[in-house]
Amino acid sequence: MLPSLFVYAYLSISSAITLVNADAGKAIFLLAGQSNMAGRGGVVNDKWDGYVPPQSSPNPAILRLSADLNWQPATEPLHRDIDYFRACGVGPGMAFANSLLRQDSSIGTVGLVPCAVGGTNITEWARGGQLYNQLIRRAEAAVAGGGAIKGLLWYQGESDTVNREDAELYQRRLERFFDHVRHDLVLPALPIIQVALASGAGPYIERVREAQLGTWLVNLRTVDAMGLRLEPDRLHLTTTSQVTLGEMLAQAFPRDHPSPIISQASRTPPNFIYIFFCFLFFIYSNLF
Ligand SMILES: *[C@@H]1O[C@H](CO)[C@@H](O)[C@H](O)[C@H]1NC(C)=O
Repeated sequence: MLPSLFVYAYLSISSAITLVNADAGKAIFLLAGQSNMAGRGGVVNDKWDGYVPPQSSPNPAILRLSADLNWQPATEPLHRDIDYFRACGVGPGMAFANSLLRQDSSIGTVGLVPCAVGGTNITEWARGGQLYNQLIRRAEAAVAGGGAIKGLLWYQGESDTVNREDAELYQRRLERFFDHVRHDLVLPALPIIQVALASGAGPYIERVREAQLGTWLVNLRTVDAMGLRLEPDRLHLTTTSQVTLGEMLAQAFPRDHPSPIISQASRTPPNFIYIFFCFLFFIYSNLF
């Protein structure tokens, strides 16, 4: 009873803070994971066909943070200078941003921060590693010029389907990663929208999907990519599938009032003293 009151108080305060900060600055989204987040739509034999669907077209209200940390008009392939070892194609990011703006133009400007790298496993995304550090560094650079981080879009796990042991450890590693990102960005209720796998590099796809679909954290939403059409490599989403996925991600984004989902899986809150303070404040503000 008491712990859930704490969490409730904490969430009330943090969403109030979010509303106060909803100024004219950029709505910033971090894009992380592996190749299907980086985008391989339209890539065949490591070559992109160059086709950009209308839903993924440039929009003056959509910017991307380049590898050298400058904001520029966003165009596909969004990850071209981040995931540069392979040919990048269409991913979900542009369709997500266009869809979000269609639903609510009061968002203003959307700032996309590409961070995904093809072929990377969850262990490589652990705190302290190069990918993790790059994600945090780019997130911090993104807000330095104004705006606020509104969410993390995460699509990863194909590389963790090869061994049974990794598939079984996936959920713990994933939850730890989400916790660390929220903690290190000092955004304990950061909305996260993750994608449940449509494909994988190994036989344990279902095991990883169970981990993804069974992860319940505050302000975590999961969209399911299973069934979306794949490229002939049977691993990567097609351009059309990426557009669909981007629109699913936009639908799943909690607008106005992020509705907290609390379950047994949400572990010890990150900062007990802060939450206790929020709790006192919550009680105090309800007395008047
Ligand atoms: C993850 O990738 C790294 C680097 O490629 C590799 O050394 C490690 O064995 C992989 N771990 C898992 C769990 O697959």
